[in-house]
Amino acid sequence: MSKVAVITGGGSGLGRAAALKLAEQGVNISVIDISEAAGNETVKLVEEKGVKAIFVKADVSKAEDVKNYVDKTVEAFGTIDMFFNNAGISGPGTRFAENTIEQINQVVGINLLGALYGVKYVLEVMLKNGGGSIVNTSSTAGVVGQETVGTYSATKHGIVGITKTIAAEYAREGIQINAIAPGTTETPMVKSYRENHPEVFENVVAGIPQRRIGQPEEIAELVAFLLNGQAKYINGVVVPIDGGFTAQ
Ligand SMILES: NC(=O)c1ccc[n+]([C@@H]2O[C@H](COP(=O)([O-])OP(=O)(O)OC[C@H]3O[C@@H](n4cnc5c(N)ncnc54)[C@H](O)[C@@H]3O)[C@@H](O)[C@H]2O)c1
Repeated sequence: MSKVAVITGGGSGLGRAAALKLAEQGVNISVIDISEAAGNETVKLVEEKGVKAIFVKADVSKAEDVKNYVDKTVEAFGTIDMFFNNAGISGPGTRFAENTIEQINQVVGINLLGALYGVKYVLEVMLKNGGGSIVNTSSTAGVVGQETVGTYSATKHGIVGITKTIAAEYAREGIQINAIAPGTTETPMVKSYRENHPEVFENVVAGIPQRRIGQPEEIAELVAFLLNGQAKYINGVVVPIDGGFTAQ
């Protein structure tokens, strides 16, 4: 039987790259995104790899949408073996005191509450069906402090907290859960930032020991490794994938 992966933020960037990588390995994919056009495009690309895929539209900051994408996936495929809990937004890029309450709530709602709801509802299915593997998307900003990403950083540190806790609580019941901490990676999220702040971007690259940003396919390799059973004894950790950025 083919394995089944749920991928949030599957319409773009890291989510789409991971969907394609797992599809190449024969995994059926449930693509979750707030953007219908982007999600359906990923479904098409995934199906071209010869596996099955569905799209479920969801705003991950809404618990009922999260419950719905989990239910729809189980209806379509019978179970969930892998979960890439990845949807996120970057925030306003200003120093913290300049953030509005609305901006804070939006970033926390999508990045942290969305991820927590996802873990809760997917975990219920995995525990019933004998286990599964989860990768949560944190960030270098979930490991170290950086300027202008206060709320984002708080949510990504929160992702690390839930990852460690779930490993401690559920590893003995067949749950493998890890977080990835990518550095700046060339996705649409970053492309638009680069266009709007070219001078900041030059500084970003200068601060990375490997002197380049990451590619989505490189992150997808790591995600597939952590999800597909190759790395079963890695549990509850945060894996940096950042060209050496957090080594400094
Ligand atoms: N690109 C980077 O440099 C980088 C670095 C570290 C961490 N990350 C994290 O990686 C994850 C993916 O980012 P990306 O770079 O691929 O970005 P992206 O913007 O290319 O993709 C994010 C996807 O999430 C979807 N999305 C946004 N809000 C949503 C919501 N409320 N509900 C459902 N879907 C929603 C978007 O429609 C989009 O398809 C995010 O959690 C981000 O914080 C990115």
